[in-house]
Amino acid sequence: MRRAVCPGSFDPVTHGHLDIVRRAAGLFDEVVVAVGVNVSKSRLFTPEERLAMLEQGVAGLDNVRVEGFAGLITAYCQEVGATAIVKGLRSGRDFDYELPMAQMNAHLTGVETVFVATDSSLAFVSSSLVKEVASYGGDVSALVPDFVLGPLTERLAARQAAGPG
Ligand code: PNS
Repeated sequence: MRRAVCPGSFDPVTHGHLDIVRRAAGLFDEVVVAVGVNVSKSRLFTPEERLAMLEQGVAGLDNVRVEGFAGLITAYCQEVGATAIVKGLRSGRDFDYELPMAQMNAHLTGVETVFVATDSSLAFVSSSLVKEVASYGGDVSALVPDFVLGPLTERLAARQAAGPG
């Protein structure tokens, strides 16, 4: 049984994330999508909201489940019995960011990191860019699932109504 973890913040999940998860599901017997809940960056969506959106995103993928994790990703991989971490690579910049983390994680527990090349049609998609563009009224409807689009628009509008800070 080959089990992999797809970790991330998923704030919010995009079609780019879901493409990587789908392809990881084809490579491994089981995939656990692990939503980081202890990362320090401020988030638009709560861990529960991010988890719920991912649950909808992976519905129909029988060998994929979604869980939250806190602490080190290596400890989480050991806890769920995963021998690999799957990450999408959009660019050399992603690679430069991911490589030391992959090496650190291998140093800590020997877990392998498998990099999957992002589909070229999704290479420009990131959660942060989606949020920025949507906050100025740009059309991101092709970049996130419908069940993300509504909550994203509403949350950004609520933030704007609340004012700076
Ligand atoms: O979507 P993101 O923000 O790029 O996801 C980053 C995440 C959550 C995968 C990464 O920050 C992580 O693995 N955090 C867990 C803490 C940890 O293990 N840090 C050391 C990594 S070498």
